[in-house]
Amino acid sequence: MGSINAAVDVRQQGGVAVVAMDNPPVNALGFVLRSGLMQAMEQLRSDPSVKAVVLSGTARAFSGGADITEFGQASRDPNLRQVIAAIEDMPMPVVAAIQGVALGGGLELALGCHARVAWATARVGLPEVKLGLLPGAGGTQRLPRIVGVEKALAMIVTGNPIGAKEAAECGLVDALLDGAYPDAAVEWARGVQDRRRVRDREDALEPARADPGLIDRIAAPLLKASGAAAPRACVESVRGAVTMAFEEGLANERQLFEGLVTGDESRAQRYAFFAEREAQKAVLPAGTQARPVARAAVIGAGTMGGGIAMCFANAGIPVTVIETEQAALDRGMARIAELYGISAKRGSITATQAEERRGRIQGRLGLEGVEGADIVVEAVFEDMGVKKQVFAALDRLAKPGAVLATNTSYLDIDEIASVTSRPGDVLGMHFFSPANVMKLLEVVRGGQTSPEVIATAADVGKKLAKVGVVVGNCFGFVGNRMLARRSDAAERLLLDGASPAEVDAALVAFGFRMGPFAMGDMAGLDIGMRIRKAFGKRAPVSDALCEAGRYGQKTGSGYYLYEGRNARPDPEVDRIIAAESAKLGITRHPVGAEEITERLVYPMINEGARILEEGIAARPGDIDAIWLHGYNWPAWRGGPMFYADLVGLARIRDRLQDFFAATGDELLRPAPLLVKLADAGQGFGGEKARAA
Ligand code: 3HC
Ligand code: NAI
Repeated sequence: MGSINAAVDVRQQGGVAVVAMDNPPVNALGFVLRSGLMQAMEQLRSDPSVKAVVLSGTARAFSGGADITEFGQASRDPNLRQVIAAIEDMPMPVVAAIQGVALGGGLELALGCHARVAWATARVGLPEVKLGLLPGAGGTQRLPRIVGVEKALAMIVTGNPIGAKEAAECGLVDALLDGAYPDAAVEWARGVQDRRRVRDREDALEPARADPGLIDRIAAPLLKASGAAAPRACVESVRGAVTMAFEEGLANERQLFEGLVTGDESRAQRYAFFAEREAQKAVLPAGTQARPVARAAVIGAGTMGGGIAMCFANAGIPVTVIETEQAALDRGMARIAELYGISAKRGSITATQAEERRGRIQGRLGLEGVEGADIVVEAVFEDMGVKKQVFAALDRLAKPGAVLATNTSYLDIDEIASVTSRPGDVLGMHFFSPANVMKLLEVVRGGQTSPEVIATAADVGKKLAKVGVVVGNCFGFVGNRMLARRSDAAERLLLDGASPAEVDAALVAFGFRMGPFAMGDMAGLDIGMRIRKAFGKRAPVSDALCEAGRYGQKTGSGYYLYEGRNARPDPEVDRIIAAESAKLGITRHPVGAEEITERLVYPMINEGARILEEGIAARPGDIDAIWLHGYNWPAWRGGPMFYADLVGLARIRDRLQDFFAATGDELLRPAPLLVKLADAGQGFGGEKARAA
């Protein structure tokens, strides 16, 4: 007994053996942990003094699943399926004691045990689908045998974990324990006689066996939104649990898993998992410390200010929301209360939580309200004059050392900072709408922003549960700067002969939830028009629609005609577009779906290349994380820069060259970095950089 290897320890507590997994940070089931578990089982199985076994993890994780870094490499025995089989066949009951997360292979390991107990902090789930995979160590066969097909499909196809209470209610865990960990599980294990294997349970499968259409009926709404392969494979694998014998279902699951793990979609999603984490590691001088943040202030209670205030309140940080006029403040506070009310009604938070959170948000008139705040986020109108006035006042009123952030979408951070006597404390914190929902936060470094202030903003981002990515200061930063290239392209496609519906359909087929025109109609076309006006730009079709009073859904017409939210094409829009084409002397012609996609996506990639060249983004993965979390880029396509590498930069260079030749638009000329890499037969290399 004692230490088995670096990751597994075994000790006896009066007839119960505790097998403790300790492979920081999250007990990923890499080779060392797997072989330690195998050795422990071999030792214990023939020990007559052992009446039961408790398998334990750490406070953070029972186990976060298979070690994702091992995918794509040669597998080493024992594999996870062998370890689970060894546990399942132990002659004495094995109990999984779950604190923290049991995810993916971690939950599959627990399903190989004869019973499961959990602490209130536990979260269990099979998130493999989010990595473009399916649970490949028996999860699709064992989970439905406990919780039934409906619940299993919901968990496996969405990948969303459930809490301890819900797990107990559906029988996935046998008991909720409190008290010392894992001692309470040791006590509980003493009373366990039954060592029935999950694989031998059949009752919960009966409803699906009696009704062959059931799986498809349950699966249809779960699959609706996704063009990815993994969710469909998840359904097929669960179907195998119903229609096949256990071993056959397991083999079927394996085959489906192998098909996914070697494919581009899973490669993209595994890459995205690590890119997201890496992007949050700001490149700062060693030893840079974040400043403590105990109180926040948000200036402006509009669309963004209200959402940002909610982010602070949700993270337990008291926040003052400041407006100039009572009516605007009342509107903003009422909207916040309404949103909390909706969350409580939906059950995503309790009524008490809603009250607590709302209680942390205080409304005030006048910028004097910023005193006492360690961080101030300005979210007033997108107007340089107004922003400068606000920052000059903040310079007088905010306490020394307070971080002064602007939520501007496009404006120059340095110009805003220049009106203060403390430009080192000023930076951009660019949230995305709706701010309380979208996970992206661009942390925009000004020319003089101090590393400490960047570290503080990044740290606050983490506390607010955002994916905070540090970027440089330029027009539109990373996300909106690339989006502008897509918007230009979309507009040009209309002038050349494509219809709004064709453009939107191409982007939806690519994997976005919405196309640019449906999105524009939803957000309101007047917003884009105002921004263009401020910067002296034009978009002929969009401007013409606005001039005709067509602002999108809110006016009942935009690129489409609306009945409620239902959009349909409008011949009047076709006429407006044709007239604009004629004014510009463009001869319209049909444009195919592939060309539409290339013309929308490649200019973004080109802009991404310039962004890298200029050092506005530190790594290609940072750009990808921004697009995945701020703009709903389809996860299974990894992000624009990853996608570029998959397509091959030579193709993208050549197509951009075509687009440039056709339009003379300098922005479409292939960027030097893109050309250099393409000529050398290389890619942006986000994925390789990680592997190195
Ligand atoms: N494999 C390898 N590394 C992992 C990992 C895993 N499964 N899970 C987390 N890590 C690493 C992260 O990369 C990170 O590394 P870093 O510090 O060097 O950046 C570190 O562990 C901590 O992770 P987080 O920053 O994400 O920590 P959190 O506490 O916020 O979250 C977590 C912990 C909930 C476990 C989260 O990391 C997570 O969701 N992990 C992935 C879970 C998952 O998808 N599991 C399924 C794997 S596939 C599988 O099991 C296949 C099987 O069916 C055969
Ligand atoms: P909004 O018009 O909804 O809200 C602005 C609020 O600021 C109004 O309530 C106004 O009364 C208040 N305000 C104006 N001057 C003020 C002052 N001097 N002091 C205090 N309050 C003042 O605007 P929205 O959409 O919330 O945008 C705010 C900022 O966020 C802009 O810079 C915008 O570019 C940026 N942004 C907007 C996004 C969006 O999707 N709406 C997304 C990301 C950033």
